[in-house]
Amino acid sequence: QLTEDTVIVVLGASGDLAKKKTFPALFNLFRLGLLPKNTTIVGYARTKMSNDEFHQKASGYFKDADSGEGAEAKKKFLSLSSYIPGAYDDDKAFANLNSELEKIEKNNKGKSTNRLFYMALPPNVFTVVAAGLKKNCYVEQGNNRIVIEKPFGKDLESSREMMGKLKDLWKEEETFRIDHYLGKEMVKNLLVMRFGNPVVDVGLNNKFVDNVQITFKEPFGTEGRGGYFDEFGIIRDIQQNHLTQVLSLLAMDAPKSLGAEDIRDQKVKVLESVPPIDAKDVLIGQYSAANGKPGYKDDDTVPKDSNCPTFAALVLWVNNERWKGVPFVLKAGKALDEGQVSIRVQYKDAEGPLKGAARNELVLRVQPNEAVYYKINAKTPGLEGSFSSSLPADLDLTYKQRFENIRIPEAYEALILDALNGDHSNFVRDDELDASWKIFTPILHAIDAGKVQVSSYPYGSRGPSELNEFLAKYGYRRSDGYEWPKTNVA
Ligand code: BG6
Repeated sequence: QLTEDTVIVVLGASGDLAKKKTFPALFNLFRLGLLPKNTTIVGYARTKMSNDEFHQKASGYFKDADSGEGAEAKKKFLSLSSYIPGAYDDDKAFANLNSELEKIEKNNKGKSTNRLFYMALPPNVFTVVAAGLKKNCYVEQGNNRIVIEKPFGKDLESSREMMGKLKDLWKEEETFRIDHYLGKEMVKNLLVMRFGNPVVDVGLNNKFVDNVQITFKEPFGTEGRGGYFDEFGIIRDIQQNHLTQVLSLLAMDAPKSLGAEDIRDQKVKVLESVPPIDAKDVLIGQYSAANGKPGYKDDDTVPKDSNCPTFAALVLWVNNERWKGVPFVLKAGKALDEGQVSIRVQYKDAEGPLKGAARNELVLRVQPNEAVYYKINAKTPGLEGSFSSSLPADLDLTYKQRFENIRIPEAYEALILDALNGDHSNFVRDDELDASWKIFTPILHAIDAGKVQVSSYPYGSRGPSELNEFLAKYGYRRSDGYEWPKTNVA
């Protein structure tokens, strides 16, 4: 049920997240006619700007909107949007925001008042803004919702402290913690792939699976944000949130229903069966200059003795009956040889007369070019092919080929729509966050203290040279002779 008469307030409206993700997503939702009736958008930030200046600036945020229908839509969208400058720690500024919101709501002549506060803000102002909004901009009649995005602390203790402060102000049902991976089509698809297909789910356990790899690769480094990144590192940036969310959806047991709380109960349950990561199950790296590209430490904002990982391969063990003994390798890296995110389930070797055949794999390619495929063996076709000569091939569901005219939405579009609908299924619950930090905090502290050292890898490579050996140790076997058909790649 969409809530009509909604004002969406984007705090941090002049920042990078708002520019790259929040406003483009809002614009696309508007263009698709998916925003609730009577939606108004208000940008709020410290930068002093008039409405016109804001419109001018925002006008450059949208794709395919410079002519024709796109330009028309942009004009209409901007006419629904306004800007109010103000500080983040000043009651008077928030009271001013509130009176502007009241004016808009009065003009709307709607029946109800709903406010969605989207905090596209740096973490050091999360709590002060959440407090300012609660005190000055909270409506008694109607819905109040607050959307926040990582980093939610740096470890278990700081996350609890931050979440605790927010919880004193905003109720759990009013809070939407974004992990934008939960808005990605292929991540959302995990539930349907598993619980809508007995043939898939029946094999997802330690009887059949040898190892699992959840991989995030980016072909560029931390250019321009090295100083920020150095405080966090790749594990806090990617594994503790995005890849752990994927793991929980892949490994959890079937929820009682598709209701948000039933799904999240199962996710928490599976995460609680994962012990903290052991230092022996970790390989970390940091990129160095290569191929004309700068190394991580060439950035002036990065300390010269930084031990901050820009690559990490970590093994998590799910100690329950279903998964005991199966390594889940969470791999993430910047400045690698390609950009790609995928989930790869590698099954055990075939036994019996075809022992030695290539291993089966189930792969979900999250991006680019969404696909689900099984690597399977077929008899080598033709008269020469005997029973014993098998050829690795694939059962392939490449989205672009199978679902020709379907537009795959941006993650933020899906999530903003969910937040407007009050659906929490794809947002992170407080206990989920807690369970995840428990798994990662000890190893993060060990790395911060220099007890685990990064090995260097060249910009544009697959990662540290120890990677293949590391993966082999956990059973992963690269299949020889298998090639993904070129025609399948967009
Ligand atoms: C963000 C990280 O959460 O995710 C970035 O902070 C990373 O470092 C980004 O680049 C990747 O998101 P996507 O949607 O491009 O895979």
